[in-house]
Amino acid sequence: MNNTPAFAASTFDAVDIIGIKRDKGTLSGEQIRWTIDAYTRGVIAEEQMAALNMAILLNGMNRAEIAQWTAAMIASGETLDFGGLRNAAGSLMPTTDKHSTGGVGDKITLPLAPLVAVFGAAVPQLSGRGLGHTGGTLDKLEAIPGWRANLSNEEMMQQLTEVGAVICAAGTGLAPADRKLYALRDVTGTVESIPLIASSIMSKKIAEGTGALILDVKVGSGAFMKSVDMARELAQTMVALGKDAGVNTVALLTDMSTPLGLTAGNAIEVQESVDVLAGGGPSDVVELTVKLAQEMLEAAGIQGADPAAALKDGRAMDVWRRMIAAQGGDPDAALPVARESEVLYAPTDGVLVALDAMSVGVAAWRLGAGRARKEDVVQAGAGVRLHAKPGDRVRAGEPLMTLLTDTPEKFDRAREALADAVSIAAEDTPERPKLIIDRIG
Ligand code: URA
Repeated sequence: MNNTPAFAASTFDAVDIIGIKRDKGTLSGEQIRWTIDAYTRGVIAEEQMAALNMAILLNGMNRAEIAQWTAAMIASGETLDFGGLRNAAGSLMPTTDKHSTGGVGDKITLPLAPLVAVFGAAVPQLSGRGLGHTGGTLDKLEAIPGWRANLSNEEMMQQLTEVGAVICAAGTGLAPADRKLYALRDVTGTVESIPLIASSIMSKKIAEGTGALILDVKVGSGAFMKSVDMARELAQTMVALGKDAGVNTVALLTDMSTPLGLTAGNAIEVQESVDVLAGGGPSDVVELTVKLAQEMLEAAGIQGADPAAALKDGRAMDVWRRMIAAQGGDPDAALPVARESEVLYAPTDGVLVALDAMSVGVAAWRLGAGRARKEDVVQAGAGVRLHAKPGDRVRAGEPLMTLLTDTPEKFDRAREALADAVSIAAEDTPERPKLIIDRIG
């Protein structure tokens, strides 16, 4: 951990720094390093940083500023090094990682990490918890009885060499400036800024020390980026930051106008992931898992792998079972089931032309699958199970989705969230978005 202040507290003045960005100016590297260091040490007050964030959100930062802001956040904490990882046979293991900007029903990390490990890569997935309408990977895995999210760096390294894949909580030592800044942005309306999102994500990924990184940048109602143009700009910014730091980085733009798969919740998403690892599961989850695995392996220099085959023949499932057991989880244990359920039915005959990701995410959250404040406890069994996806023909009175919760008083608010979620038309729409929209590398 680097605790040495890089600057005397009085080198710059926070009000002057805010004024530069308010007036559309450019911050120097020295000013940025001072700002991040002073904020991490509590010299810049929360309200001053909030004002600076808002000025950055409104007026942007250029590429040099974003790179310096990212580097300063990395320097605020420790960095990990997976460079010397060797497997049981003594061969060096390339590291490769995936990061999603967050979406509804996005359980891809669960089948993906063990799948990629099948081919000899080390996959260190340092993950987070959900806040708001997007679910968190750790919340999902904690639905598995006994599974433990917190590992020491030594335990993580050992699991990577023995199993090849680990999904665990990011330690507090990585980019602590981002941790503080993200919490502030979350409550000051300053999350949706491309420079701030790019530097937040990439500071953690570069500090984590992966050799290759595939970014899954979500686009659509259930994502931070609502338009393809904004998602492309975010992806290009992050790819440039990664490459400049020596990380082989590629981004995919993928659709988040509708949930991924047929589940949004914790235990139900684990079950769907296990279905994919057993060679089944919804086709969109399988398609994205296989595509991301191919990209991760290619970026790590592993040629000729066939991830689709490893899902079908049980190799990925074997690694999953070992990965869960290594963290105290019982891969054979029954998953928690919500105590109450309520079915929503199709009002008319026709084709389901839209099923809004944001509405489903908010409904799952309100049912108890997510949290409104960091200290809230999530319900493992809560969520939304979908019975139809855009493009499917439905008949009046057929089940469209099932709402799941332990606390039935939550049904009303969940139904409210879903009031405009579904569109049924006589004919299918020709312009439904593709799952994989673009690749930036
Ligand atoms: N995820 C992050 O880690 N940071 C952001 O700013 C947005 C999403």
